[in-house]
Amino acid sequence: MSADPGTSISSSAGIAMVTGAGSGIGRAVALRLAKEKWDLAIIDINEDGLQETEKLIEEVSGTGSSGTYVVDVTDARRFEAVVADIVTNGSEIRVLVSNAGVLSVTPVLELPIEQWRRTVDVNLTGSFICTRAVAREMVRAGTPGRIVTVASVHSVAPGTNVTDYDASKGGLLMLTRSLARELAPYGITVNAVGPGFIVTNLAGGASEEYVDYIVPRIPLGHAGKPSDVAGAVSFLVGPDADYVTGTLLIVDGGMLLTADL
Ligand SMILES: NC(=O)c1ccc[n+]([C@@H]2O[C@H](COP(=O)([O-])OP(=O)(O)OC[C@H]3O[C@@H](n4cnc5c(N)ncnc54)[C@H](O)[C@@H]3O)[C@@H](O)[C@H]2O)c1
Repeated sequence: MSADPGTSISSSAGIAMVTGAGSGIGRAVALRLAKEKWDLAIIDINEDGLQETEKLIEEVSGTGSSGTYVVDVTDARRFEAVVADIVTNGSEIRVLVSNAGVLSVTPVLELPIEQWRRTVDVNLTGSFICTRAVAREMVRAGTPGRIVTVASVHSVAPGTNVTDYDASKGGLLMLTRSLARELAPYGITVNAVGPGFIVTNLAGGASEEYVDYIVPRIPLGHAGKPSDVAGAVSFLVGPDADYVTGTLLIVDGGMLLTADL
């Protein structure tokens, strides 16, 4: 069934799912959406991180999330079971923020195939698994929805010693644009945010040398915070973005204008 394209959704309408919510950007997105009165379903492979996020959501909302799920986003069967669980509990899924991701820094000549496979599996195939499952449910329910993928400046500009990451994030941007086109008739918008250098555990994997190199090259003069990205996600799932689909919203302090990543 087709939903009315362009229909606004609101936080009172249903559940917002956030993957990779146990840390960094995903946690900031979950907290921002909780402040905006969304009911949340939070997903991560890291149980301790997820519990910490749950505590913070309780502080913000007074009630906690509607569900915490320790699931690997590369496991289609388990992710689909999460979607089924939410629906069985009587909730409608209105938002997915597909954020879970991994990064490791290895020169391409030494890059093991296992690392390539894992990076592409989590960052690209994981997003395919999550977006497909949620889009199927939105279409089945006949409800409009918002999907946001967390891509990267690396979706459009290559970095150093991150071939697998660059390829996965480039693919993720095209997945996002392709989904936007195919899901528009159902009233589902699909957009990407493209963070630059944001202080999180993942960015902590960068060498001191790289940090000393990149931060002074950011036109706004400093690294970003997870909450900077959460603000962009909030815009894309909110009513002001009703007519926005298939776009990449870069959140990088101007880094792409000047820096060789
Ligand atoms: N930090 C940056 O500078 C930056 C820049 C551009 C894009 N990003 C993207 O932002 C997203 C969030 O990264 P972050 O910086 O907050 O890093 P982070 O390491 O703090 O958070 C990533 C979260 O994803 C979870 N995760 C990893 N693999 C998973 C899996 N298979 N299934 C479920 N959960 C999984 C981790 O447990 C972690 O909680 C990633 O997609 C990353 O590529 C980050």
